Amino acid sequence: MKGLVLSGGKGTRLRPITYTSAKQLVPVANKPVLFRVIESIRDAGVEEIGIVIGDTGDEIRNAVGDGHRWGVRIEYIPQDEPLGLAHAVKIARPFLGDDRFVMFLGDNCLQGGISNLIEHFQNSQYDAQVVLKRVINPQQYGVAELDQDGRIMRLTEKPRQPRSDLALVGIYMFDNSIWEAVDSIQPSWRGELEITEALQWLIEHGRQVYPFVHDGWWIDTGKKDDMLEANRLVLEEMTPVVEGYVDRDSHLIGKVIIEKGAEIINSTIRGPAIIGENTRIVNAYIGPFTSIYHHCTIDSSEIEHSIVLEHCTIRDLPHRLEDSLIGRHNEITRSPLKPKAYRLMLGDHSTVGVL
Ligand code: G1P
Repeated sequence: MKGLVLSGGKGTRLRPITYTSAKQLVPVANKPVLFRVIESIRDAGVEEIGIVIGDTGDEIRNAVGDGHRWGVRIEYIPQDEPLGLAHAVKIARPFLGDDRFVMFLGDNCLQGGISNLIEHFQNSQYDAQVVLKRVINPQQYGVAELDQDGRIMRLTEKPRQPRSDLALVGIYMFDNSIWEAVDSIQPSWRGELEITEALQWLIEHGRQVYPFVHDGWWIDTGKKDDMLEANRLVLEEMTPVVEGYVDRDSHLIGKVIIEKGAEIINSTIRGPAIIGENTRIVNAYIGPFTSIYHHCTIDSSEIEHSIVLEHCTIRDLPHRLEDSLIGRHNEITRSPLKPKAYRLMLGDHSTVGVL
């Protein structure tokens, strides 16, 4: 069994963060989503992983490397243009050969990992297995219609009038019958070779496609609010640990993780929350569902339900910062200059909510 991770795409819905960083590398609970994907494939016993990369390929290669840190072998498969998930499968054929494989979208988070899914597929005669999840907005996804016996009747990509609420989660398992399918389909209205249509082709040609309905949470981390939601869900499942320094005037309440080299001075941290390596929290309040990444300084400020990326300074804020995703190397401070005014230097496509 091999693994195929899709990590291309422009991440337009996460601008401006994605002008300078791949969306799959944005951390959830201080670990990039892509690393979580690699770990869940590794934990399912798969050691050879191909990563399909696009424009942000160099950054992904630098961050991930050859995989030895996870005990896996990683190969990179460049995709010149984002021509669809089935196209990504097509170009990965030299890497995958005739092996069975699991394909995982590099910006997806799934509760509980995929070990049980892989085990189920390995012990079956199915040609493909898809993961389904009940959602309230199925028109945004590939949608499955099941018959009374729970078999898949039809799969449709982003239907205007969905006939069920079962969305295709970005995790798929295939055997070598997928090759004929991806060679037989045509680009969709959005100009992409859709994996949903390749699956539909398998169903129409009498292949066995098994639907696995997932009960836990699943987040496709395309937008800020999805990132915050994934952050909340992952933080809730973490085990508290203090590896940094917490002074006597500080309070840690609930599930709090303090990473190595972090310093908490005269502050309150109400979990679930995580404070990254070498970050300093001084005279501050860090509220639930907050992840502060490494090398940040949070001084005399309050932050809740937010993700702050590395090397940020947040100081003397007069009001609490909430529901925010702050990119790398940002500085947010109270301006001492008169007249009193907001003074901003923002990248393109930034969003700021002021009082
Ligand atoms: C892709 C698939 C879709 C699936 C979704 C899951 O959509 O085409 O069927 O439900 O991933 O995240 P895309 O992200 O390309 O819009």
